Amino acid sequence: MTPRSTIVERFRSRFGGDPRVYRAPGRVNLIGEHTDYNEGFAMPAAIEFYCWVAVGAREDRRLHIYSEEFSAEADADLSSAARQPSKTWSDYPIGVALQLEQAGFRLRGANLLIESEVPIGAGLSSSAAIEVATALALADQSGWTPERLQLALLCQRAENEFVGARVGIMDQFVSLYGEKDHALMLDCRALSFASLLIPNSVKLVISNTMVKHELASSEYNRRRADCEEAVRRLREFLPGIRALRDVSAEQLEQYRSKISEVAYKRALHVVGENARVLDSAEALRSGDIARFGMRMAESHRSLRDLYEVSCPELDLMVDLAHQQKGVYGARMTGGGFGGATINLVDARYAGEFKEKMAKSYQRETGLVPQIYICRPAEGAGPFPSSDL
Ligand code: GLA
Repeated sequence: MTPRSTIVERFRSRFGGDPRVYRAPGRVNLIGEHTDYNEGFAMPAAIEFYCWVAVGAREDRRLHIYSEEFSAEADADLSSAARQPSKTWSDYPIGVALQLEQAGFRLRGANLLIESEVPIGAGLSSSAAIEVATALALADQSGWTPERLQLALLCQRAENEFVGARVGIMDQFVSLYGEKDHALMLDCRALSFASLLIPNSVKLVISNTMVKHELASSEYNRRRADCEEAVRRLREFLPGIRALRDVSAEQLEQYRSKISEVAYKRALHVVGENARVLDSAEALRSGDIARFGMRMAESHRSLRDLYEVSCPELDLMVDLAHQQKGVYGARMTGGGFGGATINLVDARYAGEFKEKMAKSYQRETGLVPQIYICRPAEGAGPFPSSDL
């Protein structure tokens, strides 16, 4: 059952009173992986899986939070200063509340009921969805309307500082700015974007491997450190550079011997991936989906061989996808080490693709994949109670 029909009732029976409801979507990244924290380019789209937050005011300065997914409660006192993360789901909403307060948005106490449709551990940004939905709910019910960009940055900071994952800005940004039928061509340095229409004849098919390897978050932070090391070393020879965004393929080759082999491989991925995003945007603009698909295939190989964030299950899914009819491109999406692949599929073949992929993947691995046929959805916002 979708939360939209019952979230108000469940809020009433748990907390009493009439809540306001906000929602924020997960996302799928079409191309441009591990480029956001290198100040580069990415091309995510919001998807029709939302995290829903129903919120009502309290008289005190406490937050009472209930998660439907985890059937668990959490509680925080906004007046007491220091607070330690609990290493559970509640670090996301509480981290966001702390960031809003630190940025000067004094919050009222609130009851929150949270329910998310975004699959966890699938690389579809369930974390950004809960952060953004909570931030909108808390700010709005306290009478604040921060700029969307500021909200995105505060949510990212909550995840960086309170949760402890050094993620980039892509997920929070697209959750707030997503547009129906469009991908966003995101410039993660300028923090600006261009909307790119995804033609109706194409479906975004997301295929969840159903595995999430334990190393995901530690390896993620290690990749960031590799990139930072590359920049530090290259800066000795290229003093003008600030991030891998500023390094050209020629410069990287010229100074290859000055950096470690690992740092070189990571940098080579990032430099190539940025170029692929730019080319993919051009391809979309000129209606050349086949060219877009080629860039996706290259992106996957680069993530597998140079950035080393793929895994056998993701590689298998991509190989299987290339054997299906109507497929323009396939690659892993999100941070890696499990999670999902994104497939650009001719709409006429999407149903058949889903069926055949499910069978083949199950035959090879014994796992039943979840496969979703999607279109780009709209970003976060209040949800009018008339629509509930
Ligand atoms: C995760 C992070 C994003 C981004 C991707 C990789 O989803 O949250 O900021 O770095 O990995 O592209």
